[in-house]
Amino acid sequence: MDLDPTRVARELDRLGAPVGRPLSIAAETASTNDDAKRAAAAGAPHGATFIADAQTAGRGRGGHAWHSPPGENLYASIVLRPRVAATEIASITLAVGLAVARVVARAVHAGADVALKWPNDVLVDGRKIAGVLVEGQLRGDRVVSLVAGVGLNVRTRCFPAELSDRATSLALAGAGDLDRSAIAAALVAEVGIVAAAFEAAGLAPLLREIRAADFLRGRGVDVGGLRGTAAGIDDGGRLLVRDAGGVVHVVASGEVLFGGMVEGCSTGDRSSP
Ligand code: BTN
Repeated sequence: MDLDPTRVARELDRLGAPVGRPLSIAAETASTNDDAKRAAAAGAPHGATFIADAQTAGRGRGGHAWHSPPGENLYASIVLRPRVAATEIASITLAVGLAVARVVARAVHAGADVALKWPNDVLVDGRKIAGVLVEGQLRGDRVVSLVAGVGLNVRTRCFPAELSDRATSLALAGAGDLDRSAIAAALVAEVGIVAAAFEAAGLAPLLREIRAADFLRGRGVDVGGLRGTAAGIDDGGRLLVRDAGGVVHVVASGEVLFGGMVEGCSTGDRSSP
């Protein structure tokens, strides 16, 4: 199998990754997020990482199933113990998404449009290539631990029918190297880098890049019944939506249905595989 613990560990060392140890790579598990959460509850340190070749109960946001066949993709969850307030968990999702987008952008064909779709999707040329699921263990208003889970489509060329028109993979996006050990190490290392930046200074050092990659800006959106035009991401990582009357609403969470760039009207489309 191209997902090899020794090679991932060696590559993490070579990259000087601030996370990724201890490292567990399973042939199959129910959900790497559940593995990481269990380990975190039992005291696993910042950086402990759980990767699987396949998941039998992979989950996305809102309880959606995450397509997790063996031999194809990356399913990784990293325990983080940043000293941040519970209210900051949502913006950590964006920061982790940025880490994934950086790795994807280095891998895919030169002209590809790699974007972040608030709050947790990474897209290439408008199709979802990766999703982020951050789950937290809280004590009062403090974060005891977080689990940053990432599903990244690497080799899949044929998606289930319900995903086929809105999902993509590194293979479909022209990546030359589909070695999951190297990609896993790059991904985990980058998550560690953005997590350190976030802990030091919050979202501020990452915002310029996040805003430059904002897929929704200028598009017609519907977030839980609030309809309008996405107007960017605020300093706290929340989505701004301008309604038809020109009022800007601040949205902290929710699933976004989106249409085209707004010039008059928009067509709604469910966005998250
Ligand atoms: C989403 O887009 O809704 C988030 C998808 C997150 C999927 C990853 S795969 C690794 C980790 N384990 C899970 O069960 N979920 C996350």
